[in-house]
Amino acid sequence: MRLSRYFLPTLKEAPSDAQIVSHQLMLRAGMIKQEAAGIYAWLPLGLRVLNRIEQIVREEQERAGAVELLMPTLQLADLWRESGRYDAYGPEMLRITDRHERELLYGPTNEEMITDIFRGFVKSYKSLPLNLFHIQWKFRDERRPRFGVMRGREFLMKDAYSFDIDEASARKAYNRMFVAYLNTFARMGLKAVPMRADTGPIGGDLSHEFIVLADTGESQVFCDRKLVEMPAPGRDVDWDDLQAIVDERISMYAATEEMHDAGQFETQTVEADRLTARGIEVGHIFYFGTKYSVPMKARVAGPDGKDTEVHMGSYGVGVSRLLGAIIEASHDDSGIIWPDSVAPFDVVVINLRANDEAVCAACEEAVAKLEALGKDVLYDDTDERPGGKFATADLIGIPWQLTIGPKGLADGVVELKRRATGEKLSVPLDEALAKVRG
Ligand SMILES: Nc1ncnc2c1ncn2[C@@H]1O[C@H](COP(=O)(O)OP(=O)(O)O)[C@@H](O)[C@H]1O
Ligand SMILES: [Mg+2]
Repeated sequence: MRLSRYFLPTLKEAPSDAQIVSHQLMLRAGMIKQEAAGIYAWLPLGLRVLNRIEQIVREEQERAGAVELLMPTLQLADLWRESGRYDAYGPEMLRITDRHERELLYGPTNEEMITDIFRGFVKSYKSLPLNLFHIQWKFRDERRPRFGVMRGREFLMKDAYSFDIDEASARKAYNRMFVAYLNTFARMGLKAVPMRADTGPIGGDLSHEFIVLADTGESQVFCDRKLVEMPAPGRDVDWDDLQAIVDERISMYAATEEMHDAGQFETQTVEADRLTARGIEVGHIFYFGTKYSVPMKARVAGPDGKDTEVHMGSYGVGVSRLLGAIIEASHDDSGIIWPDSVAPFDVVVINLRANDEAVCAACEEAVAKLEALGKDVLYDDTDERPGGKFATADLIGIPWQLTIGPKGLADGVVELKRRATGEKLSVPLDEALAKVRG
């Protein structure tokens, strides 16, 4: 992608109402534009990162056995009357009336709709277990939308819903999502800690929030330091029996403010390991049994031929919020530092003299060779001065910067910089390519 043909409206300074660093950097890096309180347009650079995060979430859901579908954003109010939540949800729900005076709503979540889809097609225990997910925009008319995409009104969520014949099987589904979440966040370079959580309006009796520790987080959290450093389980696990992996983690104290028990924290955790911090909720999983299947009559025939209500769970990831969380965890004074796995481009090639034929030819050769290696390349072919180009490259956080100018070219070298460490190498192009290939 040539920067001269791209759309990257960077800002020198963030608007003063952007309070936290991730919001400031997303605006300065030309990733988003606010259209209304808590409602954002995703500009090209922001969309690239959003898509990469979405893809990691999708891959890890599928690895854990979940199946993707796509439900609409608009839902019928009558469906929510069946569960009793239409009246219970309150002013956070955006209610809409169509030209036929039919009541609709912009979905804040999808338990009712997925239960309706399920009961329309699934009739036997033989189709279970089943876990269906989608990645779709949600709307919640938050009282205080703030911090950019972190607490939006319109935001992208991955939500999965599991269906099982009984509680024991449903707990296995819960464990699969628990482990999938640990792997998902680790792939994005995040340390997300599972913490016992309140079930809120979703309801139910078993719930964990996945929390990224950050000073700007909205939740107060309490946990065992060892849990933060524990590596993710990885892919090679026995997906049918994850209880030991889950137990190892939930045996350590970790709770959000609403669930915190100071006495238990002290007995369960030695003082040196007691961590009190702020955190960002990036995922939330719930087991709620038959809370929806009973009122909505989602039943299947069991092995004995008798109909029983299915046991359900739901599992959310804040896909758009994750951009903010990753930036909070990974930035410096010059800008964003994207982890390789979610970066909008892998490499930026910086042309130090855009009116010099030999330099342009060398840059184009570098771009072509990087693309042949399967890398996404942003080519800064503009005629801006070098200082401005370096500042932009640092701001937008591309993991590798490959700089080519007349002086280096005469010596047969290019300059390669790793954004995360600041480490710079002056080496022949082929050596730089080998480094980037990894
Ligand atoms: N207003 C919001 N803006 C961005 N992401 C959100 C918002 N509300 C929830 N999320 C994300 O969606 C995930 C699932 O939402 P859920 O737990 O149902 O919401 P909440 O915790 O706000 O009641 C959360 O863990 C969070 O990452
Ligand atoms: Mg939650």
